[in-house]
Amino acid sequence: MTDPPVVVDHLTKTFGKGRGIADVSLTVEQGQVLGFLGPNGAGKSTTIRCLLGLYRPTSGRARVLGHDPANDDIDVLAQVGYLPGELRLPEALSGADILGRVRRIRGLRRTTYRDELVERFGVELGRPLKALSKGNKQKIGIVLAFMHRPRLLVLDEPTSGLDPLLQDEFDTLLRETAQDGRTVLLSSHDLDEVQRLARRVTIIRSGRIVVDDTVDALRARAPRTMELTFDHDVDPARLAAVPGATVRTATARHVTLTHTGPVAPVLTAVAELRPDTITAGPARLEELFLHLYREDGHAR
Ligand SMILES: Nc1ncnc2c1ncn2[C@@H]1O[C@H](COP(=O)(O)OP(=O)(O)O)[C@@H](O)[C@H]1O
Ligand SMILES: [Mg+2]
Repeated sequence: MTDPPVVVDHLTKTFGKGRGIADVSLTVEQGQVLGFLGPNGAGKSTTIRCLLGLYRPTSGRARVLGHDPANDDIDVLAQVGYLPGELRLPEALSGADILGRVRRIRGLRRTTYRDELVERFGVELGRPLKALSKGNKQKIGIVLAFMHRPRLLVLDEPTSGLDPLLQDEFDTLLRETAQDGRTVLLSSHDLDEVQRLARRVTIIRSGRIVVDDTVDALRARAPRTMELTFDHDVDPARLAAVPGATVRTATARHVTLTHTGPVAPVLTAVAELRPDTITAGPARLEELFLHLYREDGHAR
């Protein structure tokens, strides 16, 4: 009963020779927004499709609201809102047609909330979908996922194609949802979006989980930047030798570096070079993410 709403346990899905996902585990707690982050092709959609019973895992298991998604349990599906990564809706229908049909399928009596969402996102109801831009179709997808106030939202890159104003509205919607004690699995390749909306983040890369931590903890170990100028020529190799430090750009009199961990060893090495000026910047989560995206191996 007290199972977290989403539990993915050592899930593997292979596609013939294709890579798919390997040994993926993640948990989304009640009322949490989990950022599920990874570059294109990392395995976000594959994981999500296993969660919704759309793919059958090769091995491992998933639980959604305490149930096995492979069982097609109607009661469970009724409590989930899913926005697929590649939304495909009947192009000949209008937004109003589609919202009406899904309302009937879902047996949704009250449409107050749905109508509020239509209003807030400025959803185009009258024209057939084939006449709408990607962003305008995506808005319909958002309303479809949220309109029945599901206990769990599984959103696969929900903001792709939304303009910045609507991104703001989406942020508000997600915060309201979490405040309501409902749960969100938010897949994204957008670092900023995840930082804004999720307190916890699970990062997938090449089909494997490389990080599962809070955004705060990640920020604490993200690289800091330092910029140094000199009124004499220096050898930046002496800075590069400091553990945790990486020289990013260097001329004889100007060096930028990033460093992780305790700052004291860096300061000692810097002081020996007698810099003219130092500018130290805050930890940059982007650096850490980019590092995780690029590097081989696991960053734990
Ligand atoms: N139906 C499928 N058939 C074959 N390969 C697939 C299929 N779905 C996903 N893959 C492969 O699995 C990997 C992960 O893809 P995907 O889950 O779509 O990544 P993401 O959603 O993070 O961009 C990719 O290498 C992709 O080509
Ligand atoms: Mg995807």
